[in-house]
Amino acid sequence: MKNAFTMNGLLDGKNAVVTGAASGIGRAIATRFAEEGANVVVADVREEPRQGGVPTHERIQSETDADAVYVECDVTEAADLEAAVETADEFGGIDVMVNNAGIFGPMGSITEIDFEDYRELMAINLDSVFVGSKIAATKLVDQDDGGAIVNVSSLAGLQGYGEIAPYCTAKAGVRNLTYSLADDLGPHGIRVNTIHPGEVETALTTQDFPVVGTEQGEALKQTIPLRKLGQPEDVANAAVFLASDMAGHVTAESLLVDGGARNTS
Ligand code: NAI
Repeated sequence: MKNAFTMNGLLDGKNAVVTGAASGIGRAIATRFAEEGANVVVADVREEPRQGGVPTHERIQSETDADAVYVECDVTEAADLEAAVETADEFGGIDVMVNNAGIFGPMGSITEIDFEDYRELMAINLDSVFVGSKIAATKLVDQDDGGAIVNVSSLAGLQGYGEIAPYCTAKAGVRNLTYSLADDLGPHGIRVNTIHPGEVETALTTQDFPVVGTEQGEALKQTIPLRKLGQPEDVANAAVFLASDMAGHVTAESLLVDGGARNTS
């Protein structure tokens, strides 16, 4: 059943590829896109949401008028990303690429982190954004009808945190890659923007790096002007805007979705 509040047709006629769309933020982005009329390719290494529930593409099929398809995709494999983008051809060609898939660890001092673990994180969190953008941009330029790329960075892409240097490095890379691609692709009418979420309640913050529901999480909330952690839908709504024609003159932007945390205190 459609949600009247969220259905505005902001993405009517568009087709999107969302990586990491089985779970968390990517799942919310894929779902909100579909609620706004976009057909969605759900690209992820897994089909079942990490937090449980029906697979994203099935939820979209049953709850919206949009079409959705799941493609098994490891974003560290260029061929998988290529296949995901090509799947959008079934809908008539890609209009929006969302590079969202990411992991959190390794954690610890640089004296303890293995270089191999660093490389793995960079492959998933940064290299994949380059490759995914390259594949999508090639199609979009060829189609000659504009388009949008939305990359998911983090507050950690704007400042350092001693325990997660690899994550911060990757997310800062995503930000500057975004600016550079906006410059590169702007003459083709392709907009490239990044979103910087603060702490959002997903498996990443309940399982991988447990903050939600902990004393640390409660203390963190008190440092955020809006006094709450983000929900995946908060990030998804920002992605809808950046993907839509409402953001027609918005490119090379880094949009904070953090309850005010970054620009205060
Ligand atoms: P999540 O763990 O809930 O979901 C991530 C999804 O990415 C999962 O479905 C997972 O299977 C998929 N994925 C992981 N490795 C993959 C690979 N190699 N290929 C394809 N898919 C893969 O995490 P969450 O929180 O939804 O994170 C999404 C993005 O948002 C990440 O880039 C993360 O760094 C970023 N982010 C999250 C924040 C948070 O507080 N949850 C805050 C700031 C940024």
